[in-house]
Amino acid sequence: MYRELYEQAQAVKAYSYAPYSHLHVGAALLCADGTMYTGVNVENASYGGTICAERSAAVTAVSHGNKDFEAIAICSDEGEAWPCGICRQFLYEFAPDMKVITGNSEEELEVMELSALMPKGWTL
Ligand code: THU
Repeated sequence: MYRELYEQAQAVKAYSYAPYSHLHVGAALLCADGTMYTGVNVENASYGGTICAERSAAVTAVSHGNKDFEAIAICSDEGEAWPCGICRQFLYEFAPDMKVITGNSEEELEVMELSALMPKGWTL
């Protein structure tokens, strides 16, 4: 299951828009009902406008009425890619206990709980 998710992240990476960093990132987010949403990093000439692949997938899921995140797989041109701090906090909002999956290939995946990557995340 995590393998399939990772393969999807790997596949959508091709859609990444990264003319500035040239680092293409893909993410695949699995929700509790089994639906999967994908996302890529989309950069902008105003660099701060860039959105990461993970947040792109999360925004797509929420936009479809799905906030019950179970797992997210991330894949970059350089293989293993753990979410940045902003993405950790963004995902933490919805599912602190979700699984985060990455790795250098579908054969060697690493899985961690978001709460371990983002202990004591911000809540209101
Ligand atoms: N990036 C992601 O897509 N996810 C992360 O967790 C960190 C960084 C993207 C943003 C930017 O387009 C490129 O990687 C280089 O930082």
